[in-house]
Amino acid sequence: MEEGFCLWPLVYKANLELIGFCGLDHLWDGPDIEIGYWLAHAYWGNGLATEAAQAVMDYGFGTLGLQRIVAVSHPENRASLRVLQKLGMTFERMAAHQGVEHVLYSKSAAV
Ligand SMILES: CC(C)(COP(=O)(O)OP(=O)(O)OC[C@H]1O[C@@H](n2cnc3c(N)ncnc32)[C@H](O)[C@@H]1OP(=O)(O)O)[C@@H](O)C(=O)NCCC(=O)NCCS
Repeated sequence: MEEGFCLWPLVYKANLELIGFCGLDHLWDGPDIEIGYWLAHAYWGNGLATEAAQAVMDYGFGTLGLQRIVAVSHPENRASLRVLQKLGMTFERMAAHQGVEHVLYSKSAAV
């Protein structure tokens, strides 16, 4: 956590249950910082991933001063792609990693 980021646990306020993770990490072995999120199935469809990811984006651009945040997803993961769109991220390119095709989305800091 020396760099100021990690994958944070998501705790549902109403029952204090651990329901997932959201945070920042290095993308593969390149210079980019990626956002990622995982939620327990029972909590899908309530806007929670978007809420958590928006807070992480704000922290990354604001507190950490990052100039760019990326995200990768399997092309068929429609829910994840929709979250990225709701975060204001845009499709940049396809990216293969370990033989698997991903879509790579990105967002730059506001100038
Ligand atoms: C991806 C994931 C985090 C989404 O969590 P969530 O809390 O349900 O997400 P949100 O409710 O914030 O937003 C989901 C959006 O996707 C949409 N969506 C869900 N399934 C969809 C589908 N099959 N096709 C199109 N849109 C879909 C929802 O309608 C919603 O959009 P809307 O607000 O415009 O209606 C969750 O499904 C998950 O943990 N999946 C497994 C792990 C994973 O895939 N992580 C991402 C790795 S890249």
